[in-house]
Amino acid sequence: MTRRYLIGNWKLYVSARRSGSAAREIARRVKRTRSTIAILCPVAPALADVRDALRGSALLLGAQNVSVAQEGAATGSIAARDLKELGCRYVIVGHSERRAQGETDRLVARKLRAVHAAGLVPVLCVGEPVGVRRAGKQVAFVGAQLRRALTGFRGSVLVAYEPVWAISKEGHGAAPCPPALARQMRIVIDRLLRSLRIRPLGVLYGGSVTPGTIAAYVHTGGYDGALVGFASTKPGAYARMVKALEG
Ligand code: PGA
Repeated sequence: MTRRYLIGNWKLYVSARRSGSAAREIARRVKRTRSTIAILCPVAPALADVRDALRGSALLLGAQNVSVAQEGAATGSIAARDLKELGCRYVIVGHSERRAQGETDRLVARKLRAVHAAGLVPVLCVGEPVGVRRAGKQVAFVGAQLRRALTGFRGSVLVAYEPVWAISKEGHGAAPCPPALARQMRIVIDRLLRSLRIRPLGVLYGGSVTPGTIAAYVHTGGYDGALVGFASTKPGAYARMVKALEG
């Protein structure tokens, strides 16, 4: 059975106070999965609550971000070590919303290694902004992101292709990437990863994915699952996406 991934990236959509009950509701609807690894990434202050809510369920815990500093004098940092202690298994690195805050490829590469060193699986996000796509330079752009993050890396990793122009703001305002177009990048990513001698656990698609579109990204797009923002905050939608991946 092919392994699929559904990673819910809750961003700041679900507050710390509401995260535990939202996770509990999703866990109630997703009792068991057959082939899907279902993950929730809540805001950092809610990680312990969500971990407790998911106990005994099929869902796993992930984090949205991590710092490079792993110990010592680093006020305000979030260490991969501590994410691990809190029960996380996966950590998103290099999300475009972090890169927009000034994260460079170099920093992303260091975060990826920090996550791996702590025994966690990094979820490396790559994807081109709209200007790059309009100029037809997306392959070179995504290729450079992958190379800079992964050259010399040996370890478990998930890759998520998220064209920046397809990422929603609260479920709106983005042009979804047609699955057939996403497939072209999937093939490019495969080729690149092979040249870097990286065998990822999976390559996911992200950007305005909904219960109605997720299956097409897998079947037409060739992806191993999805990294989902807004739709993943709705328990019913999350459960339907798991079902669609397993169908
Ligand atoms: P979206 O977000 O599903 O709301 O477009 C995806 C992401 O940013 O990971």
